[in-house]
Amino acid sequence: MSAALSSGRHVVVLVSGAGTNLQALIDATNSSDYGVRIAAVGADRHGIEGLDRAERAGIPTFVCRVADFPTRADWDVALAARVAAYEPSLVVLAGFMKLVGANFLAAYAGRTVNTHPALSPSFPGMHGPADALTYGVKVTGCTLFVVDGGVDTGPIVDQQAVRVAPDDTPETLHERIKVVERAMLVDCVGRMVREGYAVDGRTVRVGAR
Ligand code: GRF
Repeated sequence: MSAALSSGRHVVVLVSGAGTNLQALIDATNSSDYGVRIAAVGADRHGIEGLDRAERAGIPTFVCRVADFPTRADWDVALAARVAAYEPSLVVLAGFMKLVGANFLAAYAGRTVNTHPALSPSFPGMHGPADALTYGVKVTGCTLFVVDGGVDTGPIVDQQAVRVAPDDTPETLHERIKVVERAMLVDCVGRMVREGYAVDGRTVRVGAR
């Protein structure tokens, strides 16, 4: 059962919004075969559905708001400390709309993944689906990557493609990407935690244990 999992199988998930990616992870952890325990869910803001989803699942939550600290660097130190309290082996940014900074990465570089709704290196940043539509690409998708100091630039764990429909809006395209993104996230986080992984330059190999 997940309660008996070693701390090496604990993850902390950080969210900023609806938390449908988080929900997919929560649902997966209901099966003991999945082998992952969500030790806590953190957010950079109050009043979001992502936190409600965690609370409904009985998962501890915390909020660490940039506005509550004198500087962004102070926030980054505090965020790393809140996460560290749960001793996760992996930190999952699932729709977390803040860039983590140098202090966070000093503790969790190589152990933090983020999901992005575009095929990196195309369309980094906050508006991946809209930017893909504006450019006129026919195929876009999602990317899971190991977080580094850049904006959606880290070594790629996995990518999945999604075709753009002629009548897509940024919203319809993003919703279709999110269906694929949730499955990719659940699959990759499960395998990374259960089987281990190695990051060698820009190459991520899952199942390296
Ligand atoms: C995802 O598409 C993620 O890649 C992007 O924001 C979305 C979050 O969705 N950064 P949700 O909060 O998990 O529903």
